[in-house]
Amino acid sequence: MLMSFEKSKVLVVGGAGFVGSNLCHLLLSEGTVKELWIVDNFLSSVQRNVPRDPRVRFVFGSITDARILSQLPRDIEYVFHLACYHGNQSSIADPFADLENNTLTSLKLFDALKDFSSLRKVVYAAAGCAVAEKTYDDAKPTTEDAPVSLFHDSPYSISKLVGELYGNFYFRRYGLPLVKARFQNVYGPREILGAGQWRGTSHTVWRNVVPTFIWKSLHGEALPLDNSGNTSRDFIFVEDTVKGLLACAVNGKAGEVYNLASGVETSIFELAKMINTFIGNQTPVDLRPARDWDRSGKRFGSVDKAREKLGFEAKVSLAEGLGRTITWTKHEQENILRTMLTHSYFVPDVLRYVETNNRGAENVR
Ligand SMILES: NC(=O)c1ccc[n+]([C@@H]2O[C@H](COP(=O)([O-])OP(=O)(O)OC[C@H]3O[C@@H](n4cnc5c(N)ncnc54)[C@H](O)[C@@H]3O)[C@@H](O)[C@H]2O)c1
Repeated sequence: MLMSFEKSKVLVVGGAGFVGSNLCHLLLSEGTVKELWIVDNFLSSVQRNVPRDPRVRFVFGSITDARILSQLPRDIEYVFHLACYHGNQSSIADPFADLENNTLTSLKLFDALKDFSSLRKVVYAAAGCAVAEKTYDDAKPTTEDAPVSLFHDSPYSISKLVGELYGNFYFRRYGLPLVKARFQNVYGPREILGAGQWRGTSHTVWRNVVPTFIWKSLHGEALPLDNSGNTSRDFIFVEDTVKGLLACAVNGKAGEVYNLASGVETSIFELAKMINTFIGNQTPVDLRPARDWDRSGKRFGSVDKAREKLGFEAKVSLAEGLGRTITWTKHEQENILRTMLTHSYFVPDVLRYVETNNRGAENVR
């Protein structure tokens, strides 16, 4: 698959982020790209995620800025649009920042790209959560053509969907070769707790469930289970997701949408149990009520279309992926803590890890 990118110019918008940086590292380590352009404003990412490689052309700033867009070479062949305003809670705290970095990013990028003549594919990171049915009964796998509600629990979710709508418009009207890749819950190395600027809530530090649980478990804490851990998700290892993105770029049909899912439903309770078992954390979990904004219940993605049309299948089991993420977290814990501490004014609670890390470093190494 990586041979398809041989000697090509690739742009990754949001390439310093969690998924974006994994994609960039893969394109550089195994691929033979000629130039890898990365645009990022470090809103929810860190500089050290940007690969150091002579083929990288890093442009610091927002993709909504006309001066940034005008710097991009017109002969780019592949674009991966991974920029967003991370995440649901931040978007509720500041819907306008979400509009600027999650909706306008898509509109301005697609509008600029319509005039690029060498484009082979533009892959947009869409979100499965914006489409999934909201249920607490038995969940069915969410297919690509599932009905979409007009009622959403966060501006983030709205923006991800609007990105798809703008993409469809630019595809139909201008022939933009856009493919939408709908992610489920991605986890893995390079998701750094606290990465980027303060975005209004403690979720700036505690980004997603997997890195949060791993960090807390490594520090012997009770894992907090909203809605008593009764919700479920489809967890997909980032290495699989980025391979899925490449499959979308190479085999995806313009105008189409594909789920990048593991197809495995895992309850948050099960997830917590697995992480605590792997780490050896014996502190009982902390059962809590449901979050007021979250009605998404149980969900997982259908894998049929991606398997059939892209030849894509997630390969890494949750057990293996969690093991690799735990190992990476232990290795990176000092860097992660340093990043978390940049928000200590707003989340003073993180200061206690300075002491814990010094005291019990041997436990987390
Ligand atoms: N991680 C998941 O589980 C998941 C699930 C569904 C969808 N997605 C989508 O996948 C993409 C990547 O997610 P992620 O988890 O890597 O998030 P991330 O926050 O780590 O990455 C997003 C990147 O975009 C950058 N960015 C934000 N605003 C920008 C702007 N105006 N101009 C340029 N760059 C900007 C951020 O600094 C960051 O580096 C996002 O579009 C997200 O909505 C992710």
